[in-house]
Amino acid sequence: MLARTVTHALVGLEARRVEVEAHLQLGVPGFAIVGLADRACQEAKERVRVGIASAELEWPVRRITVNLAPAGLRKEGSGFDLPIALAILAASRQIPAAALAGHAALGELALDGRVRPIGGVLAAAEGARRAGFTRLLCAAESTPEAELAGVEAVPLRHLAEAVAYLRGEGEPPPYTPPANGRPSAPTHPDLADVRGQERARRAIEIAAAGGHNLLLGGPPGTGKTMLARRLPGILPPLAPDEALEVTRIHSVAGTLLPDRPLIAEPPFRAPHHSASTAAIVGGGPGPRPGEASLAHRGVLLLDELPEFMRPALESLRQPLEDGVVSIARAAGQALFPARFQLVATMNLCPCGARGDPGAECSCSPQRLAAFRDKLSRALLDRFDLVVTVPRPRGVELAAGPSEASAPVRERVCAARERLRAKVPRRSAEADELLTRAVERLPLSGRGRARVARSAQTIAALAGADEVLPEHISEALSYRTPSELRPS
Ligand SMILES: Nc1ncnc2c1ncn2[C@@H]1O[C@H](COP(=O)(O)OP(=O)(O)OP(=O)(O)O)[C@@H](O)[C@H]1O
Ligand SMILES: [Mg+2]
Repeated sequence: MLARTVTHALVGLEARRVEVEAHLQLGVPGFAIVGLADRACQEAKERVRVGIASAELEWPVRRITVNLAPAGLRKEGSGFDLPIALAILAASRQIPAAALAGHAALGELALDGRVRPIGGVLAAAEGARRAGFTRLLCAAESTPEAELAGVEAVPLRHLAEAVAYLRGEGEPPPYTPPANGRPSAPTHPDLADVRGQERARRAIEIAAAGGHNLLLGGPPGTGKTMLARRLPGILPPLAPDEALEVTRIHSVAGTLLPDRPLIAEPPFRAPHHSASTAAIVGGGPGPRPGEASLAHRGVLLLDELPEFMRPALESLRQPLEDGVVSIARAAGQALFPARFQLVATMNLCPCGARGDPGAECSCSPQRLAAFRDKLSRALLDRFDLVVTVPRPRGVELAAGPSEASAPVRERVCAARERLRAKVPRRSAEADELLTRAVERLPLSGRGRARVARSAQTIAALAGADEVLPEHISEALSYRTPSELRPS
C-alpha cells in the first residue's frame, strides 16, 4: 500500500518540491524515514505516531517506510510532520488518497495532534502555487501568510480537522487572528527630539532619500545613536513587491509577528556588537538569513562600529556591493537578498574625546592606531556619507523641539519619486568639478561613483533637473571629514 503527499522544502528562500511517499507492508512493525532527513525531521516519527493516536485514528501495525524524494535534497525542520501523517493515513486507507490531489501540505504536529505553524510558509506556499497546487493544508495561524502567496489555505488546528476535510465531512472554520487590541506596527522615535546637529540631520535626510550608507562619528553623548534610530521614521513605505520580498525573508527566519503577516514598512535591525559573522550575514544549518538579510530594503544599524568583531564587519563587504548573501553548502547554494542601508556610529578615538574642542584626547598614538586598525579602509570606503557629530551647544540643547520627522519624510518621498521618474544628469561644470576632485582627493573608483550618486540625491532633494557643482561639492564634503582621515 503506497500513498503520496506533496510538500515544499526551502533552500535559502527557494522552494523545492518534495514528495512524501508512505509505504505499508506486512512484516515486523516498524517505522523508518529515508531521504536525507535531518534530526528534527527524524523526530517526526515520534510526533506523527503520537499525533495520529491523539486524533483517535489508527496507527497501522505494519512495516512503515516513508521516503522523502528527491533523496539528494537535505530535508530540515519539522514541517514534514503533517504531510508524513497524511501520507500514512492515506496509505492505510483512513483518508481517500484521491482527496489529496491538488493539495500541498506543510506543518508541525504537537503530541496532542494539534497542527503547529512553522517558518517559511510564504516561500513554500509560493512554491506550491507555482507547481500548480491550489490548496495548501497548513496550521490555522499560517493561513494569512499562505494567502499572501495566492493559494487557498485550509486552516487546520488539529490533525482530526485535516482528516474530516479530506473525507469530505466539511471545511474547517476560517481562521480569525486573535485581536489583542494593540497594533504591533513599529512606532519610531521622532527627529523633533534631536536638538542642533543640523549637518547630521541633513546627512540623514540625504541618506533616507537615496538609500545611502551613513557613518556618524563623534564624542560620546552627542546624539549619534539618537539620530541613527530616527532614520526608519523618515523612510517611505515598501512597494507591494518589496513588502512580499521582505516578508519572505522574515518568514523563513521566524521573525514575523502573528498579527502582522505582511511587513509593509522598511525593516530596522540593530544587532549587538557581540554578533557573530553567522548572525550578521547568515549561515548555520538550514542555512538561516542573518541580520544583513533581515534588514533587506531597510536599515542595518551598527551602533559602536569599532566594537564589532572584524570578521563580522568584513563579511558585510560583499553584500554591501552585491545586495545578496550567498551561502555555499555541500548540497548547493542558498541565496538571501541583502540590499540594506548601512548606518553606523562610532567615537573617533578610544577615549572618545577626539572631535570635542572642549576635551583633551588622552589616547597614545599606538592606541589610536590600534583603534583605527579595527576598521578596514575597504569598509569605510563603502560609506557614502560620513559626518562628525560635535557636542551640541548649550543654547541648542535648551532650544525648543526641532523639525519633526513628518515633513522630512515628505521631502524624502518626493525626492524618491523624482529619482524614480528621472535620474538627474550632471551638468558640464559638475562633471568637471568631480574630475578635479578625483585627482585632488584620495577618492577611489568606488568613491567617485558614490559621490556621483549622493550628488544625484542632493539634486533630487533640491528639486533640480540636473546635478550642479554645488550638489557635487556638498556630496564631496561628506566623503572626507578631517577627523576620520588617517593622520
Ligand atoms: N543633540 C541632542 N539633542 C537632544 N538630546 C541629546 C542630543 N545629544 C544627546 N542627547 C541626549 O543624550 C542621550 C545620549 O545620546 P546618544 O545615545 O545619541 O549619544 P551618542 O552620541 O550615541 O553617544 P555614545 O558615543 O556614547 O554612544 C540621548 O538619549 C539624549 O537624551
Ligand atoms: Mg551611541
